Amino acid sequence: MAEFETAEELVRQSAPERPVLCVRPHAAARAARWFSEHFPGPTIYALKANTAPQILAALTDAGITRFDVASLPEIDQVSDVPQARLYFMNPVKARETIARAYFDYGVRAFALDSFDELDKIVSATGNAADLQLFVRLACPNPHALIPLEGKYGVNEADAPELLMAARQRAERLGVTFHVGSQAMTPQSFGEALQIAGERICAGGAMIDMLDVGGGFPSRYVGVEPPPLEAFVSSIVETCERLTIGEGVQLMCEPGRALVAEAESVLVRVEARREHDLYINDGAFGTLYDGAYSGFTYPARLVRPDGGHPGSVQPFRLLGPTCDSVDVMPGPYWLPGCIGEGDYIEIGQVGAYGRVLASGFNGFGAYDEAVLTDEPMVTMYGDAPKRMSDRRSAQ
Ligand SMILES: Cc1ncc(COP(=O)(O)O)c(C=O)c1O
Repeated sequence: MAEFETAEELVRQSAPERPVLCVRPHAAARAARWFSEHFPGPTIYALKANTAPQILAALTDAGITRFDVASLPEIDQVSDVPQARLYFMNPVKARETIARAYFDYGVRAFALDSFDELDKIVSATGNAADLQLFVRLACPNPHALIPLEGKYGVNEADAPELLMAARQRAERLGVTFHVGSQAMTPQSFGEALQIAGERICAGGAMIDMLDVGGGFPSRYVGVEPPPLEAFVSSIVETCERLTIGEGVQLMCEPGRALVAEAESVLVRVEARREHDLYINDGAFGTLYDGAYSGFTYPARLVRPDGGHPGSVQPFRLLGPTCDSVDVMPGPYWLPGCIGEGDYIEIGQVGAYGRVLASGFNGFGAYDEAVLTDEPMVTMYGDAPKRMSDRRSAQ
């Protein structure tokens, strides 16, 4: 894959006609190192967030060998990572899939949130005696920008009994939950752990593992989460107060926080109509969260000569498909002189960007390049942390 220092250099050399996925493996590696240095337990990467080989290589080189997988293709993709340990955390799985995961790929860790799923796992694995079972608890997601509640998680009434039933079938028993994606306050984890502690005590089953799930935040425009250290502190302090027994292994399962910064997309303006910029990627491409989740990505004009002329103005971005929901309202603050043929680098699309991109309407084909410069914003290190820092630096 071609490598450039900056998006400007890329534009100078290739003036791309298609959108370009700009991969920054060093950003994924930095995030992975942060979790291994700060989180008191194993980090399991939620593979669904980004499956690009370059990103996976960066994460594994930085020490990530555990993966949260949700399907056989995902299992297949990481099964040859040396020392890979796979956690099949989709709470509803097909019987054949469970059997193939167990017998063909050696998966031992499975999530469940019902008695039916417990029976399914036990029978599909031939009453295996070496199962690691994670009971997924329902927990409210009041602090998350993308709440995930309502689909998965055993309720308060059934949790104690399900935990006890799973205990009888599990070599190792875990509890897990998801506080929602892009959780904005550290208490999200504290509150969920409190609930987990109550359910565990009510059931009386001894657990071996406590998986706090994903939800660790990244940075978007107007979205400034507290430092990640505060999230880890909330987890550690709450766990110290829980009476769930000694020696419980803590684990986490981030997706977004590990990879959001590791990709941007370089798009071209195909038309300008007043404050609307029609660009060659959109909601059915890597910018789903910009259209459907209310996110505004950091964005900057990229001109081959590196110039950023004039003061900034607010723009909407409109994707290339003929669908009228293909709109990222932003606002995106860009120089007022921007027009057809200009390029924009849109940051923070590394999580749930390329994996959600479809070929709808004939779009969805990307060029790819590695960029060695820093992402526009970061939760880690010394690169500019806020869009306001970035604007004043221009
Ligand atoms: C079971 C599970 N774990 C982890 C994640 C990762 O979440 P996030 O990207 O918010 O960290 C998800 C995302 O949907 C998930 O479903």
